[in-house]
Amino acid sequence: MRLSISRLQVAVTAFIAIASATTELEDNPLATLDQRDLDALAIQINQDNSFVVLKAEAKAAYQTAHGLLISDEASSSLDAAIDELTFSSIQKAVNTDVYYPKVYWVDAGPRTWFGLDVPGGRYSYDNPDCIYRTIPIDHRLSYIVKGYRYSPGPTDVTFSLISDPNSQNTVTSLSGSNLVVDSDGSYTITINNSSENSTNHIQSTLLAKQLFIRNNLGDWTTEKPDSISVQLTSDASGHTPISNATILAAAKWNLQESIIDYGVGALGLKTTINAVNTLSSPSQSSTLGTLTSQASSFGHYKLDDDEALVATLTPGPADYWVFPATNPWIITTNPGNSQVSLNSVQSAANSNGTYTFVVSLQDPGVYNWINTTGLHEGTMMVRWQGLPTSSSSSTDSPAITTQVVTLAELSSILADGTRFVTPQERAEQLAQRAKGYAQRLEF
Ligand SMILES: *[C@@H]1O[C@H](CO)[C@@H](O)[C@H](O)[C@H]1NC(C)=O
Ligand SMILES: *[C@@H]1O[C@H](CO)[C@@H](O)[C@H](O)[C@H]1NC(C)=O
Ligand SMILES: *[C@@H]1O[C@H](CO)[C@@H](O)[C@H](O)[C@H]1NC(C)=O
Ligand SMILES: *[C@@H]1O[C@H](CO)[C@@H](O)[C@H](O)[C@H]1NC(C)=O
Ligand SMILES: *[C@@H]1O[C@H](CO)[C@@H](O)[C@H](O)[C@H]1NC(C)=O
Ligand SMILES: *[C@@H]1O[C@H](CO)[C@@H](O)[C@H](O)[C@H]1NC(C)=O
Repeated sequence: MRLSISRLQVAVTAFIAIASATTELEDNPLATLDQRDLDALAIQINQDNSFVVLKAEAKAAYQTAHGLLISDEASSSLDAAIDELTFSSIQKAVNTDVYYPKVYWVDAGPRTWFGLDVPGGRYSYDNPDCIYRTIPIDHRLSYIVKGYRYSPGPTDVTFSLISDPNSQNTVTSLSGSNLVVDSDGSYTITINNSSENSTNHIQSTLLAKQLFIRNNLGDWTTEKPDSISVQLTSDASGHTPISNATILAAAKWNLQESIIDYGVGALGLKTTINAVNTLSSPSQSSTLGTLTSQASSFGHYKLDDDEALVATLTPGPADYWVFPATNPWIITTNPGNSQVSLNSVQSAANSNGTYTFVVSLQDPGVYNWINTTGLHEGTMMVRWQGLPTSSSSSTDSPAITTQVVTLAELSSILADGTRFVTPQERAEQLAQRAKGYAQRLEF
């Protein structure tokens, strides 16, 4: 899908004015020259360093969090998950210079672009709907973030100032519903320590280290992430860019913290602590990469070839939600080529407004199938976003229920009116998914 020339020019001129390096190629807001340069540097650091000791520690922590009876199937994907965790730690480190801030797309699967083989950098329940981008900031400095909203834009957007790139605790945030976008699609956000209550201003504090931007795409084929660029308006003279040695030290620190935050925390304390094949009741918090306006529910499944986990989700007041299945090490498997997640735009509803998903190895023929990609065990983090942050009435809250049945029993427990698909319809559903995912890299 190509944009008209006029809209493309609006997008491009809006960015050339800021800095040439943020100019996007063609009409892909992710394919920027800054992105290329940061990817290239992360790849170089990954190649030049082995992180042997930290990787071994990470592996041990993930194994302990899993519980020590680990199947060969689960073991077979652990090293790759630790490699992605390591690359994510480097990606977090290459864009930390508060005097030379860039916009960097992170927490994504492997890709080949700009002539670079970029390894996967997924960690801690990467959401395949979400384009995660980071900008380093300091509370003593002042920044302008310029955005451009394509039509249609993402289903859910948030700009969060976080205190730490690993624990990702939210300091403050600007939600998509509070963002003011001009009629031509552009918007300007200011970030500095002023307490001024003005449009699209985010007040930074001593704790704030990074702007973490989420663009959640509901319909992958039509919705586009925003174009985003950043400009430091404070004086950077006298500040040389941070050295590669500093970046390497930060990468090691990130990996060290990731072991605790995601191995002990997300996999252990949030996930495997729950009874198998159940999902915890949705809870709102601002820690471990979640938003105060987000509710999350964690769980892990264990299924035989002929079994299915049936989950029914109540959206509550969420403006966006997603039901993904991830591997035993809390990252997605081939999200572009397998239906491992479905969101509020992609799923078929029950007649009463709830949504029922069937998680299984084999295709049960229901529209809302969550494909485990052949895995008999894995993890799940369901999330609801755009929720009111003040405690809401409990009459219309996000909720989720689960039960395990055999595939033979499935038809007797699914509601009348459940949407089924023919093999041709399934192939078309998957083709649309693959097309939407591939668009993220096209330019
Ligand atoms: C607030 O930012 C200004 C620059 O805009 C800086 O001079 C001042 O030191 C900062 N104050 C605090 C408390 O960080
Ligand atoms: C800080 O942000 C406020 C609100 O947008 C703006 O009025 C002010 O000019 C900014 N301060 C600096 C030093 O850029
Ligand atoms: C900020 O301004 C908006 C619009 O003028 C107003 O609705 C809101 O209550 C103000 N917030 C604070 C904290 O003063
Ligand atoms: C950092 O490493 C990259 C990749 O090896 C290199 O291109 C760059 O010049 C180095 N930067 C500094 C400041 O040495
Ligand atoms: C399900 O996953 C398998 C294994 O990755 C893949 O071959 C198949 O195409 C997927 N089907 C769908 C509809 O996701
Ligand atoms: C809504 O429908 C689903 C599917 O039939 C059912 O499982 C669920 O209990 C219903 N929820 C309510 C609140 O009626």
